[in-house]
Amino acid sequence: MSYTALYRKFRPASFEEVKGQDAIVTTLKNQIMSGRIGHAYLFCGTRGTGKTSVAKLFARAVNCEHRNGADPCGTCESCRAALSSSSVNIIEIDAASNNSVDDVRNIREEVAYRPTEGRYKVYIIDEAHMLSTGAFNALLKTLEEPPEYVIFILATTEAAKLPVTIVSRCQRYDFKRISIDRIADRIGELLNAEGISADEKGIRYISRLADGSMRDALSLLERCISGCTNGRISYDDILETLGTVDSEGFHAMLEAVRGKNVKGAIRQLEEYSVSGKDMSSFASDFTWYLRNLLLAKSTDGLEDMLDVTAEEYQELKASAEGIPDEELIRYIRIFSALGGTLRNSVSKRVDVEMTLIRLCRPEADTDTDALKARIRGLEEKLEELKTDIPKMAAAVPANVSARTEARPEKKTFIKKAAPAGIVRVKKNWNSILAGQKGLVGSMLEGAVPVYDASGESNILYISVRNETVRDYLKEVADCSVLFGAISEAAGGTVETVFVTSSDVSRSDRLSEIEVIENIKKLINADVEIVD
Ligand SMILES: Nc1ncnc2c1ncn2[C@@H]1O[C@H](COP(=O)(O)OP(=O)(O)O)[C@@H](O)[C@H]1O
Ligand SMILES: [Mg+2]
Ligand SMILES: [Zn+2]
Repeated sequence: MSYTALYRKFRPASFEEVKGQDAIVTTLKNQIMSGRIGHAYLFCGTRGTGKTSVAKLFARAVNCEHRNGADPCGTCESCRAALSSSSVNIIEIDAASNNSVDDVRNIREEVAYRPTEGRYKVYIIDEAHMLSTGAFNALLKTLEEPPEYVIFILATTEAAKLPVTIVSRCQRYDFKRISIDRIADRIGELLNAEGISADEKGIRYISRLADGSMRDALSLLERCISGCTNGRISYDDILETLGTVDSEGFHAMLEAVRGKNVKGAIRQLEEYSVSGKDMSSFASDFTWYLRNLLLAKSTDGLEDMLDVTAEEYQELKASAEGIPDEELIRYIRIFSALGGTLRNSVSKRVDVEMTLIRLCRPEADTDTDALKARIRGLEEKLEELKTDIPKMAAAVPANVSARTEARPEKKTFIKKAAPAGIVRVKKNWNSILAGQKGLVGSMLEGAVPVYDASGESNILYISVRNETVRDYLKEVADCSVLFGAISEAAGGTVETVFVTSSDVSRSDRLSEIEVIENIKKLINADVEIVD
């Protein structure tokens, strides 16, 4: 069975099937019906928006023997010849490969002869910007005095590369990027015709990813269909096949980061990498997303510059709402720096994870952006306090003085000795650390076990370098080997909590575990001691 690519199979056969170019279609239809046809047209705009399709339709329509309104009938001799690409009146030239002066000279010679059958000779010059200067000059001569039976249609994605002398002789039509809604409608129609059903959400996802190009939409759709066996494609299938994160995913990522939700951010990253994309593209896609947010937020009417459709623009604006510029700028700076780091990194995933944690924890950062973020955090807290204080005052029963609210940390206590299990962990600490390999091992360098000297809990605190390391160990890393070693040394399960050395110095309960002097010496000599 021969197979035709979807986008060819569904090349519009009537003007009605051309989506999202209404103004152009209306004008051209009027010209066809009134017989007032120009001799030179320039179709420009992004790839996959219908330039070639409309050119072909137009060429067929002007030569059709039984036109149907403005539409070619598709069945007369002229239409059939055109549809099988054997028409002598419709000449398609790909300027990308036929761009020399000679190619255009041939056109000039041919142009001299009237069509033997049909009314018009239509030259469709695709990728017109690829013509050489000589070819343009030769073409210009023809465009200056075209015979009345000749029509030129130049199509290009880069109108700016055409000489003004050419452009000024053409009726110019700018093909617009196609909106998500229009693309989704068209996909719906085509799926219907193919007898395949799909989730609405999935269709919209493809439409959005197509980025204004119907051709891209159909290619993406095709990839999804080819993996489908039961006549149904689900949203998940589509995500899996296309392997990218939509801006919803990025939006969720940003929400997590802003909410200082390390787990959530890491989960989003996991979803991203499960979809098959690598960490470098994550860094660049996310940076791009943040940049779009910033631009959408800062100015109006930037849709074109952002290369997003009007709907996406609205989505971006909505997502950016309420996020301070400096915050976005801080994220963008950190993420674009990450892009550079990743290029030579052997542990890209870890680098990205660490960066996400860093974003979630401006307090662990010391650069000016982070400082600003911290100040902003403090300002917000201050505001909260301002509104909370009257409430708190109101909540205190009249007969209770505010003094009873004294913070529990301020309670004095008699320092208790560490529980035996924790002491055993301390005794074996060097060998426990030595048993930690890879990333966890390097994170734990210099880590110290600490206990709650108030005796209120039997938790083993592990004091580590800084917040980033603490959060990484707490939220991301697999510490099962460490925990195993700890419970083995302790002789039973011990609840373990990671803290930073500054947490410890701030607390008046957390205290280093004392071990008698001669054992300490042995520990420093890194000898394994087992009770
Ligand atoms: N405006 C449109 N409406 C419907 N289908 C379109 C449209 N634009 C492109 N397509 C689809 O994409 C395919 C390629 O479009 P084409 O006309 O070659 O785009 P361009 O020449 O602008 O790059 C067509 O065969 C058609 O299936
Ligand atoms: Mg084209
Ligand atoms: Zn016809």
